[in-house]
Amino acid sequence: MNILGISAGFHDASATVINSGEIVYAGHAERYSKIKNDPNLHEDMFWEFSRGRHIDHIAYYETPWKKQLRQLYSGQGIEWSKLTTNQVLSQQLGGYFSEVPVSTHNHHLSHAAAGFQTSPFTKATVVVIDAIGEWDTISIWGAHYVNGRAEYHRLWGQKYPHSIGLFYTAMTQEIGLKPMEDEYITMGMAAYGSRQASTLMKMQLVEDEWNLRFKENLHTGVSWEWKEHYDIADIASSAQALCENLIYNVMRRAKDFGWSTNLVYQGGVALNCLANRNLGEYFEKIWIMPNPGDAGSSLGAAALAYGGPVEFKNAFLGTNISGDYPVNAVLDSLLTDKITGVASGRAEFGPRALGNRSLLADPRGPNIKDQVNAIKRRQEFRPFAPVILEEYVNDYFIMPSGFVDTRYMQVIGTCRYPDLFPAIVHHDGTSRIQTVPKDGSGIRELLEKWYVVTGCPMLLNTSLNIKGEPMVNDRADADRFEQFYNVKVHS
Ligand SMILES: [Fe+2]
Repeated sequence: MNILGISAGFHDASATVINSGEIVYAGHAERYSKIKNDPNLHEDMFWEFSRGRHIDHIAYYETPWKKQLRQLYSGQGIEWSKLTTNQVLSQQLGGYFSEVPVSTHNHHLSHAAAGFQTSPFTKATVVVIDAIGEWDTISIWGAHYVNGRAEYHRLWGQKYPHSIGLFYTAMTQEIGLKPMEDEYITMGMAAYGSRQASTLMKMQLVEDEWNLRFKENLHTGVSWEWKEHYDIADIASSAQALCENLIYNVMRRAKDFGWSTNLVYQGGVALNCLANRNLGEYFEKIWIMPNPGDAGSSLGAAALAYGGPVEFKNAFLGTNISGDYPVNAVLDSLLTDKITGVASGRAEFGPRALGNRSLLADPRGPNIKDQVNAIKRRQEFRPFAPVILEEYVNDYFIMPSGFVDTRYMQVIGTCRYPDLFPAIVHHDGTSRIQTVPKDGSGIRELLEKWYVVTGCPMLLNTSLNIKGEPMVNDRADADRFEQFYNVKVHS
């Protein structure tokens, strides 16, 4: 039975197909349309996810009428054409699959299922923190399997307009960045500022930090002009500090329920890898599905309709660029040019390039960061990430505790030799790390050969995308990147 999960209609549209607990496809609309955070599915996806298979069931990731009710409450008005799941799906699927039975799921429960049912746990405390679902902004669940089917018991929640995600987004907007898109830039900027404004921020904005209630509705931004009083890096740093403080209050509360020492953490706020570094203080084992935001909820909705555990082997689940991984060609380019691109195999599901749509570079020496920045044409303060053979990670980094899997750039570690590898170390001495186990992947074989030749077990890894566009998807995109930047892309 093929179950098609869909999260679409608002932002970051995606689709996932699972069959008997196996993910056979998961992809993002933006990679096909080339529109960042595209809210609408793309017709080219339909051919990919339905190729050679019959779709038996469609699962939608949230309840449209409840969301519309909240939009009415928040002054955004009702979109009458998006009141039912059938309306949204007929817009999104353009009449395709109209005979297929449909189920509608709760937004936060879709987040929870995307995490719990892909986790290695049979019982876990699930924490979801995002901007807003239908009404929910934070939820804590006790999850376990009963007769092979996942069950979720809601333990606690907070509702709109009280939202950690909306707070962080409002601060992103305040410092002049794009809300609901550039939050990761705010996080990167935080290392350059001081946390001096965080106490004032808490006093002005937070009514009750334990119950996560705010004094004002931050959906449309903050009412006070922080920019007139503080440097934008100080605002970013203070917002990050307060955000962490609030997240840890949620984690403390979640731990206190005593449901499990395993944590599954989902929702867009779980992408804040800086905050994730301390989760091990509250839980013994931690799993964050590598696509924890709404784009990952197509997988969550499909998992809810399926009911049982879903195997998450790796994040390579999207469009396939066929052929062997070009290990030797990439190695040669790295040795001669120090920087090269690779587009091979299936595209990553989630916001990070993990080796199949990556720009790779030699991480050693003082000049490489500027060279990669020049190609990517992005802000100098933003860090690049290392990808490293898993067995050497502790030799090079002090890693946070608790994470059952560090393959997905979700956590930060502290580099033991920042002077040797300045390109992959952020201003605060941290690195957002991707480890690669002996998994038979192309990036694994490349790193092994790179290590034999250079004695260095890691590379710099950043996403292969033309500035302003989403990540490269197919071979034609890779060719465009090559021509645009005059950097070889192997595929
Ligand atoms: Fe969400």
